[in-house]
Amino acid sequence: VLVGGRGSNLEALIRAGVDVVQVVSHRPGVRALAVAAAAGIPAAVVDPARAASRAEWDRALCRQVEEIPCDGVIMAGFLRQVGPPLLERYGERIVNVHPSLLPAFPGLHAVRQALAYGVKITGVTVHFVEAALDQGPIIAQEAVAVVPDDTEDTLTARVQQVEHRLLPAVVRDLDQGRIRRNGRRVWREESECAPW
Ligand code: GAR
Repeated sequence: VLVGGRGSNLEALIRAGVDVVQVVSHRPGVRALAVAAAAGIPAAVVDPARAASRAEWDRALCRQVEEIPCDGVIMAGFLRQVGPPLLERYGERIVNVHPSLLPAFPGLHAVRQALAYGVKITGVTVHFVEAALDQGPIIAQEAVAVVPDDTEDTLTARVQQVEHRLLPAVVRDLDQGRIRRNGRRVWREESECAPW
């Protein structure tokens, strides 16, 4: 699981019984690392500030992830784009959770963007990761209504409640081979096909 913040999605994955073999953060000192430590999960920091270049950081991130074999990579609050080494190594086995109904409000502060725009409905997207930011094929989405006196904090809290349910459910489906993909179209089937 790739993290960079509070680690509430990491906690949700652990609670749901996902076998998290390693946590990698792009930021030192974040709460997500403490969550990993408390759960006895090996954790590492690959800090862009300590890499000589973007390409070197991309390689370091891939090397770190490869250190412990895994079936897939989950980006849960990892607020950096991953580069070619990781994308080539793990291909269709990288997913990301994003706090909006993509393609609306990609990038940082998606909840703030939704409030500023004045949408009545926002939500959560779980998608496969591709090189372009927040543009990979969508696996699952769920809507969250915006209410008149919402602040960034109150709306974030409701969006995250949905994330904590949707992301583990998608990971379980991927693990059980219930997710099929044809180009950009992804759907869930009751019968199993190829697991991660
Ligand atoms: C989550 O809300 C996630 O959707 C968002 O960061 C938060 C991390 O929270 N990700 C993005 O905005 C990616 N563009 P967490 O550290 O408590 O799981």
